[in-house]
Amino acid sequence: MAGSASPNQFIGPFYLLLCRLRAVNSAQGKVALITGAASGIGKATAALLAAEGAVICAVDFDPVGLDAISAEALSALTITADCGDPAQVEAAFARCETELGGPDIAFLNAGIAIGLSDLTQLDDATYQKIQRINVDGVVYGVRAAIDRMKRRGGGSIIATSSLAGLIPFPADPIYDAGKHFVVGLMRSLAPTLTRDNITCNTVNPGITDTNIIGEQTKDFLIDAGFPIIPASQIAEAVLGLITAGVTGQCWVCQAGREPVSYEFRDVPGPRVANTAPVRPPVPLRDGWALG
Ligand SMILES: NC(=O)c1ccc[n+]([C@@H]2O[C@H](COP(=O)([O-])OP(=O)(O)OC[C@H]3O[C@@H](n4cnc5c(N)ncnc54)[C@H](O)[C@@H]3O)[C@@H](O)[C@H]2O)c1
Repeated sequence: MAGSASPNQFIGPFYLLLCRLRAVNSAQGKVALITGAASGIGKATAALLAAEGAVICAVDFDPVGLDAISAEALSALTITADCGDPAQVEAAFARCETELGGPDIAFLNAGIAIGLSDLTQLDDATYQKIQRINVDGVVYGVRAAIDRMKRRGGGSIIATSSLAGLIPFPADPIYDAGKHFVVGLMRSLAPTLTRDNITCNTVNPGITDTNIIGEQTKDFLIDAGFPIIPASQIAEAVLGLITAGVTGQCWVCQAGREPVSYEFRDVPGPRVANTAPVRPPVPLRDGWALG
């Protein structure tokens, strides 16, 4: 009948749009720059994203570990760089753009722990060492990614925080504070970058089987019957964030569980005498509750 549309006329375009959205959010054909790619979570993520059809740009300051990545036929562009040095981070992203056209995905993952609970024992060099990689390195990575992703029409930035970015970790308070920084940075960037089609999220792993935890700790945990997460599980969470297309989320990764987006409580809003509760103006508003 003229003028009336069959259901297929609606389903067809809708289905095509769904397929397109899936392709937009898949890793297939995307350029993924991964820091800390020579070992552990970064290495596992490089392997998974390569298997999903991404082109890998592997960045680390460990050239031997990077050589092993090439040897594992990931056909990655490998770049030896210190992620705590702003010039080296910028140069790595510039090379990624010149040689591969990307990045579409930036996985800012390089990090260290110091395992020091007594701050009276913290010397300046150790403090600066952890801050420059765990905190400054993430800022340099985000800064280098944004304009390049805008030129690509969007992208996905994921930083590795930790469970320690959501809860206290008395065994290593400076590590814990740095991982909270990463959570705050990514959540605060997310609303602004949405208009550029750039997502910002974190993965927040529990204790994961990598070199950062050391053999002694590993043996201790195994003897105590505490489950250690395989690095491949965190890689799956990173892929999940890329394909979900969400932003401003922190995905908690625990052994034996699917990753779950951490639910932050809103903070109470201010009250003005004799009036209803007030909200802050729009740019400040996220995370404030009325009441
Ligand atoms: N393994 C865990 O239990 C666990 C839990 C939560 C969060 N994390 C976080 O995961 C991330 C990855 O660590 P991992 O567990 O895979 O450990 P890992 O030691 O196996 O890997 C870390 C990688 O980062 C690289 N790196 C360190 N400093 C660097 C620098 N200045 N410049 C460039 N590369 C540098 C190392 O060479 C190494 O390849 C870290 O940010 C860590 O804090 C780990």
